[in-house]
Amino acid sequence: MRLLIPGGAGYIGSHMVRYAQERGHDCVVLDDFSTGHEWAVKDCEILRVNLLDHDRLSQLLKGRHFDGVIHFAAKSLVGESVKKPDLYYRNNVAGTLNLVHMMRSNDVNNLVFSSTAAIFGNPVTDRIAEDHPKNPINPYGQSKLMVEHMLRDICSANDFNATCLRYFNAAGAHESGEIGEVHDPETHLIPNVLKAALSNKSSLKIFGDDYPTPDGTCIRDYVHVTDLAQAHLLGFERMQKNKGFSAFNLGNGDGFSVLEVIKGCECIANNEIQFQVDARRNGDSAVLVADNELGLRELNWNPEYRDINDIIKSAWYWHNSEKC
Ligand code: UFG
Repeated sequence: MRLLIPGGAGYIGSHMVRYAQERGHDCVVLDDFSTGHEWAVKDCEILRVNLLDHDRLSQLLKGRHFDGVIHFAAKSLVGESVKKPDLYYRNNVAGTLNLVHMMRSNDVNNLVFSSTAAIFGNPVTDRIAEDHPKNPINPYGQSKLMVEHMLRDICSANDFNATCLRYFNAAGAHESGEIGEVHDPETHLIPNVLKAALSNKSSLKIFGDDYPTPDGTCIRDYVHVTDLAQAHLLGFERMQKNKGFSAFNLGNGDGFSVLEVIKGCECIANNEIQFQVDARRNGDSAVLVADNELGLRELNWNPEYRDINDIIKSAWYWHNSEKC
């Protein structure tokens, strides 16, 4: 298959490209490199463009055929979205609308869209299934939910197929140690904890220890980035038979608190990790854990990294690699 991968130079996107290439698919990466890395993609054509640049996008894609698009290009930090909502609505909503417009004018009708658990807001059930109420508590989640609504309507009105995959907390790295998570600034928990394990002077902060959870810190469902990539290809294959709109929650179905993650990292790094407790971070839900039954069944998704320690080990391998 020939796949267009907007955001293919980013963390999850680059693992998607690698996963698809390893299975013989031809990938074209579209990225503005605002947060992506050139070193993270190899052996593929790169189109350097921002999705908001309608004219250049149209010029670059005109007349080109793709079997489908797997779309990761977005702003994705909860905290930043609270401070700069306009940036999130413009990039994530208007950018996706441009992309879909371009797809439809080139007769490309299959889209896998990178959505998020942040569309649910504060959970009202222990584990979050696909039909859980959707009340995002930050502009990032709101922007992704808007895109989901937009795609549902576009699928109903046209011969267009979209699969939305709502990730819980992506973590880990490719087994080669060649690509992994690098953000600047890094805001995600596991990389920050592992960096603290590697440095003599830790500046690790825990954002809030007064949440209504057993140890007071937030609980998240960590899912390996290669398992996410697997689900995207499966989602794509499923769309060949199941037309129209669908959405799946991608997590392992187990929750770990911030303190539990730190403990796990200490064991794997064999090092005590210093931290300070700070105020809660705006936009954080206390608990986000997936009910992943539908994805396992409908996509035939078979995550390899079901144990949080294996996910942390894979991230640790990356953090110790030359490339990181
Ligand atoms: N945290 C810390 N210290 C840090 C970093 C994070 O205490 O240095 C805490 C956060 O407050 C949160 C938890 O660790 O409670 C996880 O935070 P991350 O930043 O790693 O991940 P988020 O849960 O905020 O966000 C991730 C994705 C979002 C997605 C969300 C859905 O980045 O895109 O998961 O679960 F929406």
